[in-house]
Amino acid sequence: MAFSIGSTPAVVSSEPGVAKEILTHPNFADRPLKRSARELMFARAIGFAPSGTYWRMLRRIASTHLFAPRRIAAHEPGRQFDCSTMLSGIESEMASSGSVKLRHHLQGAALNNIMGSVFGKRYNLSEENADAEVLKQMVREGFALLGAFNWSDHLSWLPKMFDPSRVEKRCADLVPRVRKLVSDIIDEHRKSLEGSERQLGDNGDFVDVLLSLEGEEKLSEDDMVAVLWEMIFRGTDTTALLTEWVMAELVLHPTVQSKLRAEIDSVVSSTGTVNDADVAQMPYLQAVVKETLRVHPPGPLLSWARLSTDDIQLSNGMVVPAGTTAMVNMWAITHDSSIWTNPDKFDPTRFMASEGGVDIDVRGGDLKLAPFGAGRRVCPGKNLGLVTVSLWVARLVQRFEWGLVESDPVDLSEVLKLSLEMKKPLAAVATARNCA
Ligand code: HEM
Repeated sequence: MAFSIGSTPAVVSSEPGVAKEILTHPNFADRPLKRSARELMFARAIGFAPSGTYWRMLRRIASTHLFAPRRIAAHEPGRQFDCSTMLSGIESEMASSGSVKLRHHLQGAALNNIMGSVFGKRYNLSEENADAEVLKQMVREGFALLGAFNWSDHLSWLPKMFDPSRVEKRCADLVPRVRKLVSDIIDEHRKSLEGSERQLGDNGDFVDVLLSLEGEEKLSEDDMVAVLWEMIFRGTDTTALLTEWVMAELVLHPTVQSKLRAEIDSVVSSTGTVNDADVAQMPYLQAVVKETLRVHPPGPLLSWARLSTDDIQLSNGMVVPAGTTAMVNMWAITHDSSIWTNPDKFDPTRFMASEGGVDIDVRGGDLKLAPFGAGRRVCPGKNLGLVTVSLWVARLVQRFEWGLVESDPVDLSEVLKLSLEMKKPLAAVATARNCA
């Protein structure tokens, strides 16, 4: 489909073959840069930097340092800690209210988890925490600004003063606060490194990693702030919202929930603590996460569009001119009945080869289900996201039986913000099992 938004030409593909061409074509490796993204410093972060030397260097730093498998593995104790804290919080809310609203527990755990990986610091969320509230509010404001539709992005003749959502003013307020917060943390790290012989270990945080870079990889302070802030920004809600969708489907499908629990108990026993290595032995758990990504792809239009840098002829005969915004409608692909049998049915066994299904790699190899995008700009945080969601779902299901709240039924209506969220946050009854 081709159309324009003001003076911006756009195409959207809902067909896996063409979608693959778009996502993997070198001339689609840029992203359109909205005014808010530019003003929020994202032009120097991985997600919006143009696909030149600087962006390639950032991607290299991301794959060899920040998201290297050994670093993801070394951060497992942090994931476990945040999950244990969340389980205690859920238990307390159950004791006081008889049901639990899961989202704020997940968001707290996700915030601390990404804070731990990126800044090496966590907030105490068992009580009101002013610093954590300030950070959450800054992330929320950044999301609102990036997600807001702004006519001046598409109508170049609009006077600069036309800014009904006050994007410019709000960005100008937010940026110095972000800069101060992140620069202070970088300074703390610098001070603690001064004169110390400390070697960077695999469990070092992202600030340590960026400070340790030498030569052409060394980033300026402003670029470090942009890269680190983007990580906090992208890593906070994505994992929390996906876990909430998984749990909502498990509450609605008790037989899937029991089968998953049986798998977890068979690998770990009901009293051991599940770890990343156990999760790798749980094909049904992985199928449940994949099925949730299919039914509720977090970025239904893959959230972050692409921009053509040259005229491109696609295999379906369409010529996409340079300067066109290209999107992939992943939601339409994952709900297409010519691709998926009973697409509206939540059925994890469709991914279980042992039960007649077909296992699919969701990390960009097959455009039938590519919730993390594909090609050169595929999500660099995909393995971290998957490992976190899988571990947390396993522990939530091992620790509690999840049931409906009769007065507050599960509603799967969706609302599209920067991610696809449950419109009505999940409420459930979490009954503790006798386990660790
Ligand atoms: C459930 C979890 C997540 C989902 C569904 C998701 C999804 C996506 C998608 C669809 C894209 C665009 C890919 C494309 O254009 O082909 C993307 C890009 C990106 N994601 Fe994620 N993401 C997740 C978690 C994370 C995490 C945890 C981080 C980092 C902490 C992260 C960092 C990024 C970055 C930096 C980019 C931009 C890459 C570039 O433009 O080169 N994501 N993500």
